[in-house]
Amino acid sequence: MRRRLVVGNWKMHGNRASATALASNVAAGTKSCSGVDVGVCPPAILMAPVVAALAGSRVACGGQDVSEHESGAYTGETAAGMLVDAGCTLVIVGHSERRQFFGDTNDRVAAKLVRAAAAGLTPILCVGETLTERRKAETSGVIAAQLAPVLALPNIRELLARMVIAYEPVWAIGTGETATPEQAQEVHAFIRGAIAACDATAAGALRILYGGSVKPDNAAALFAKPDVDGGLVGGAALKAADFTQICAAAAR
Ligand code: 13P
Repeated sequence: MRRRLVVGNWKMHGNRASATALASNVAAGTKSCSGVDVGVCPPAILMAPVVAALAGSRVACGGQDVSEHESGAYTGETAAGMLVDAGCTLVIVGHSERRQFFGDTNDRVAAKLVRAAAAGLTPILCVGETLTERRKAETSGVIAAQLAPVLALPNIRELLARMVIAYEPVWAIGTGETATPEQAQEVHAFIRGAIAACDATAAGALRILYGGSVKPDNAAALFAKPDVDGGLVGGAALKAADFTQICAAAAR
């Protein structure tokens, strides 16, 4: 059975004081959630106080994005090695906000994933369709295209053993409109099938998270679906009590 994972994506929110308090409260609140893996992804500049606040807890820390370059003259970027050095074990790659506002292409996302994995991080690869794409019945085609450059990587088997995928329908992010558990399951099963075509054993072990308006009141129904292995949580991850409830709903 796949161990569930719940990760909070704090996006561009918080400051030293609020991030430290949130991390401490998440660490305390999830202490008894032994049946689930938990992580939080604060803004890069708040990594140090958050890692310090999480010390000794069962909560992992991750970046929200990473450069596809190892190091060099790339103003404003964060290298995978820097995330590791700061105490991170996870990193989100290809979040729809990076794709939409910062020009991340499917190829660049694959390059970021390679760089993250090479540094020893667990990359969380985000995929998902827009509302227009869903209405045009293009969901599976869009996701297949997002996965294609990753599945074509020469060391894909090695990567599959390490990575996590998050299905985040763009129309459900920050809108309060969640995919129904059935809609999520349908796409998660499609993703697992696409991975299985490449490596059936890895597909069975791969964790596929759902993201998009996950809240304490809908988490259990989503996690009850066979191919939903946890959540990538935005807004509700900013409230320790809500995030802790979501983690508890995933514990088994
Ligand atoms: P919300 O939970 O706020 O919809 O955000 C989801 C998300 O983008 C997590 O990465």
